[in-house]
Amino acid sequence: DAGKGEYDHYMLKEIHHQPTALSNTIDGRVDDGTVAFETPLSQLVANIETVQLVACGTSYHASMFGAQLFRSAGIPTEVIRASEYEAMAGPVDERSLVVAVTQSGETADTLDAVRKAAGRGAKSLAVTNVVGSTAAREADEAIYIRAGPEVGVAATKTFSSQAVTLALLSQRLAGAVPDATPRADGNAMLEALPDLPAHVETVLETSRADSLARDLLEDRSYFFLGSGLGHSVALEGALKFKEITYEHAEGFAAGELKHGPLALVTEESPVFAVYTASEDEKTELNATEAQSRGAPVVAVGPNDHPLVDDADAHLSVPDTHPVWTALLANVQLQLVSYHVADLLGRPIDKPRNLAKSVTVE
Ligand code: G6P
Repeated sequence: DAGKGEYDHYMLKEIHHQPTALSNTIDGRVDDGTVAFETPLSQLVANIETVQLVACGTSYHASMFGAQLFRSAGIPTEVIRASEYEAMAGPVDERSLVVAVTQSGETADTLDAVRKAAGRGAKSLAVTNVVGSTAAREADEAIYIRAGPEVGVAATKTFSSQAVTLALLSQRLAGAVPDATPRADGNAMLEALPDLPAHVETVLETSRADSLARDLLEDRSYFFLGSGLGHSVALEGALKFKEITYEHAEGFAAGELKHGPLALVTEESPVFAVYTASEDEKTELNATEAQSRGAPVVAVGPNDHPLVDDADAHLSVPDTHPVWTALLANVQLQLVSYHVADLLGRPIDKPRNLAKSVTVE
């Protein structure tokens, strides 16, 4: 427990460690608009034409986030839940790169998916937090997210560091994969990156998630919606919420609201609407739809946005490049989950039935 320092829980300590973790993730990897990792990756990616990201849980949400950036860099990319690899993955061969995104490097389903892909000729890369982990040892190459040890079962800082590592990797591969064109705003994304740790600090210092949490305790269901990168963050927000509060939470793509979840929307189902400046239209429309059925809407994103004016509450994040805005929104949602769980007296660092690392299939 001494390891918790001034914090009541490891999870809160790890949420607050994100500025440092992210500084470490970024350190020395971007120079004048060019991304370079410690391992050059040149041989690994020399003949790569397609990428598959495989992962579970929170790492899957970071992979969804990453996959969108890979695609926007012109790299044909699939993102597959590792446990569904056989059913969902497209064919691979020696021109494919399978990327195992796994904090621990020990998740059985993820290791199994990589082994299957490698058995079919794919090259493999581990994106992990743990040096010497099975994923790092078995893959052809490894990149470390450098988040530092994470003790809380609910992953927080590793999500942020995975997402940033994958964003960097998308830029690195854009320069290597044939026909891939770096995203038009790739330089702007990289230029804004050094400010991300300070922006996370601002969120941590100014967040009103603790007072908002008090208003949410009596509700029945909690919905998280977003589009694009906001979709990944919505799924992650809902997963975190259910893991540690034990309350029903569901995340979905904003446009899916009317295809089912709307049936559950009442005045007792707050809706967290995650938006960035560039991905907000569907989120705004569907948040309004939920609100008209009585659901309180919490806007999670930058100020100066119509969603903020209409919402019942706002969790504000600094206005930076939209890619990083999405990650800042996730930090706000981490804090909401933490404070709700804390007020409910849940065992935050060790939720019932869950394990930090799932080494069985
Ligand atoms: C478990 C943990 C999650 C984690 C998932 C994948 O379910 O409780 O927090 O996201 O495993 O773990 P990995 O180590 O592969 O990232």
